[in-house]
Amino acid sequence: MTATARYSLMIHGGAGALDNVKDQKTAVRYLDSVQRILEHGREVLELGGSALQAAEQCASLLEDDPIFNAGCGSVLNEDGHVEMDAAIMDGRTLGAGAVAAIDGIANPVQLARLVMTESEHVMLIADGAMRFADHCGVERVPASYFYTEDRIAQLKEARLRHKMMLDHESPEDCVCEDQKYGTIGAVAYDMEGNLAAATSTGGIVNKRQGRVGDSPIVGAGVYADNETCAVSTTGYGEEFMRTVIAKTISDFIYMKELDAEEATRAGIDYLRRKVNGRGGMIVIDNQGRCASGMTTKKMIHGWIEHGGEAVVRF
Ligand code: GLY
Repeated sequence: MTATARYSLMIHGGAGALDNVKDQKTAVRYLDSVQRILEHGREVLELGGSALQAAEQCASLLEDDPIFNAGCGSVLNEDGHVEMDAAIMDGRTLGAGAVAAIDGIANPVQLARLVMTESEHVMLIADGAMRFADHCGVERVPASYFYTEDRIAQLKEARLRHKMMLDHESPEDCVCEDQKYGTIGAVAYDMEGNLAAATSTGGIVNKRQGRVGDSPIVGAGVYADNETCAVSTTGYGEEFMRTVIAKTISDFIYMKELDAEEATRAGIDYLRRKVNGRGGMIVIDNQGRCASGMTTKKMIHGWIEHGGEAVVRF
């Protein structure tokens, strides 16, 4: 690591009990994917790429891997359709872009970035977001890109049980402690000390049409401010929205002068105490220090702190 290689990077692929990761092969599949994507992000940052580029590219790669609940691996709603949410935020300017309830787009996080850079708005939803995608020349992908056998079977199970499931966990676990709350996210700190965050999700299995979770909501599922930190969350979206948890963690750093570790711990306490919230988050502070926290048993995540070795964890 050179003296200037102070970049840091964190990514996540969902929180929960992860009881579906019962065999070694599945576990290795998750860990390999996280490791590969971290190393890609490292290259971006080592070559002088911005935190925003690293966060967007890592989030896009997570969206491209069907084991995660985002992009091509998105879960299905009550009508059997994909409705994805995503957001990205630039800590240099507090610039933000978000899309909600969209389908037919391979990388919602890239469309969110276009909302930030090519429109005067922060969030576009449903048909309006799709019209904007066409305006920007973003290619549509066919329905077959999303509908995996696993996702169809998962929806069938959830319908049978008249339940909503928050990700591809076993049906008997749905809407209880033992489930995986799918979402993907990336936060980055570049060699110039800039922060960025990105979050993307297919949401909840069997969710109502039009339901939007925390992922595209600035301050809930995503936040980045060079003065404080970058945050991406994963969990039961309604609880993260009600606690505005990403901005709350940023405020802890700003007002109480905490570091990433302390602010994340305070955020987890707050989430638990106020709403018994289920999920987790990744945080990089304004010195590039990495921290993660969760109220669930596990969270798939990994990090590179200050240009060091990649660490991957459940
Ligand atoms: N955290 C993802 C969702 O609730 O949609």
